[in-house]
Amino acid sequence: MAGTGAFADIFDGDAYKYYSDGEWKKSSSGKTVAIINPTTRKTQYKVQACTQEEVNKVMDLAKTAQKSWAKTPLWKRAELLHKAAAILKEHKAPIAECLVKEIAKPAKDSVTEVVRSGDLVSYCAEEGVRILGEGKFLVSDSFPGNERTKYCLTSKVPLGVILAIPPFNYPVNLAVSKIAPALIAGNSLVLKPPTQGAVSCLHMVHCFHLAGFPKGLISCVTGKGSEIGDFLTMHPGVNCISFTGGDTGIAISKKAGMIPLQMELGGKDACIVLEDADLDLVASNIIKGGFSYSGQRCTAVKVVLVMESVADALVEKVKAKVAKLTVGAPEDDSDITPVVSESSANFIEGLVKDAKEKGATFCQEYKREGNLIWPLLLDNVRPDMRIAWEEPFGPVLPVIRINSIEEGIHHCNASNFGLQGCVFTKDVNKAILISDAMETGTVQINSAPARGPDHFPFQGLKDSGIGSQGVTNSINMMTKIKTTVINLPTPSYTMG
Ligand code: G3P
Repeated sequence: MAGTGAFADIFDGDAYKYYSDGEWKKSSSGKTVAIINPTTRKTQYKVQACTQEEVNKVMDLAKTAQKSWAKTPLWKRAELLHKAAAILKEHKAPIAECLVKEIAKPAKDSVTEVVRSGDLVSYCAEEGVRILGEGKFLVSDSFPGNERTKYCLTSKVPLGVILAIPPFNYPVNLAVSKIAPALIAGNSLVLKPPTQGAVSCLHMVHCFHLAGFPKGLISCVTGKGSEIGDFLTMHPGVNCISFTGGDTGIAISKKAGMIPLQMELGGKDACIVLEDADLDLVASNIIKGGFSYSGQRCTAVKVVLVMESVADALVEKVKAKVAKLTVGAPEDDSDITPVVSESSANFIEGLVKDAKEKGATFCQEYKREGNLIWPLLLDNVRPDMRIAWEEPFGPVLPVIRINSIEEGIHHCNASNFGLQGCVFTKDVNKAILISDAMETGTVQINSAPARGPDHFPFQGLKDSGIGSQGVTNSINMMTKIKTTVINLPTPSYTMG
C-alpha cells in the first residue's frame, strides 16, 4: 500500500515528505499542497510546499554530488540503474495505486506505466554503457591544407545538474525518461513533479533511494509553481532542463539561461484517412488513439481528417466502438475516467459548447458528471470551430471531412503544433509522400500516434517542442562533446 511498508519513510501520517540529501524531509515552510483526487474531487494526498532556500540547498548538493558521480565508472552507474529498475517493478502495485488516486489513470494502465518505466530505466542503462563507451577518432589530413599531425579524440561528458519537470499524465514514466539518461551520463538530477502525480513520483524516487544512489545526486522538491517554479527553471545551478507539459514550456524557454533545453509541449495529432484505408483498422486506432486515458495524451489522435467518400462508413464504425467504451472510476479499470481537474473539464466543455453553437454533428449526447466526461465524437467539424485547432486533452474527438489529400495536409500543417500525425492507406507510395509533407516530428503509417516504444526518437516541431527524446537522444542531449587533440611534431601516416 502507498506510504506504508517499504515506503513508510516518505510519509509522516499526514503529508508526504520531499527528498533531499538522501533523506525524506518536511519543509521548513510548515505548509503543504493538497492533491485532489479527480474522481472523488476531495483531497487525497498532501505534499510539502518547499521553499526557495530548500531549492538552493538541493542545487548545492546536486552540484557537489555530480562531481563524484561523474568519476563513478560507467558500469557501476548502469548497475545502480538496473537495481532501481528492479525495485521499481517490484513495487508496481503501490505506485500504480497512487496513479489511480491522483491522476485517475485506469488501474491496468497505471501498472503498465510503472512496468514500462522500469524497462525504460534498464534499457537506458544498457544503451548508456554502449554509446557513452564510444567516442570518435579524427585525423587532420582529411581537411584541405593539413598534414596528418593532429589526432582528435572525442568523448561525451556530463552537463552537470539536470532539472526534470514531467507532466501529470505520465508522472512516473516521463520522470524516469529524464532521470535515467541524466544519471547514466554522469549528471545529477533535481526533480520537480507535477502537483497531480507528485505522490507517484515520490514513491518512484524512493525506489532510486532504496537502490543506493549517492546522497544529493537525486532530489525531489514539491510545492507551488508560484513559489518555486520560476525559481527552479531560472536557477543558476541548473545546467539543462528537460520539460514535458503544456505551453508553460514556452515561457520556460524564454526565461531559461544559456543551457540545453528538451521540451515536449503537446500536439494536435491529425489522423488522415484515405479512400482505400482499412476502415476497421482505422476505427480501432481512432478509439485507441483518441480515447485511451480519456484523451489525456500529447500523442492522442486529436483530429480525424477523412475523405468524404468514406466518412459516413468510418463515423458509423467509430460510433459503434465508442458505444462500447466503459465510463467510470479508474479503480474499476473503466476505459473513460474523470479528467484530471475541474478546470480541465470546464475547458473541454467550453470547446464542446463552441462546436455545438457552430453546428457540429454530435454522434453522442454530451454528458458530464463532475470531472467525468463521456466520450464524444463530433462529426462535420469545420475550421471555424475551436475544437478543430485546440487540444481538448479529454475524450472529445472532432472529425473533419476532406475532399482531397492536400486539404488534409493543409489542415495538419496549419496547426501551431507539430508533434505526431498518422495516415491510413494501403498505398505505401502515397503514405510516404503524405508523411514527408506533414510538418510533424513523427508520422505513423497505419497506426495511431504514440511515443513508444520508449527508445524511438520522439520530437515535436513548432510549438510542440525543442530537441528530440527517446533513450539514445536523451542520453546524447544530456552530454557535451569534449575533445582532446594530440599534436605531433611531424606528420605520421598509419603503416607509413
Ligand atoms: O508526452 C507524451 C505522452 O503524452 C504520450 O505518450 O506513450 O501515450 O504516446 P504515449
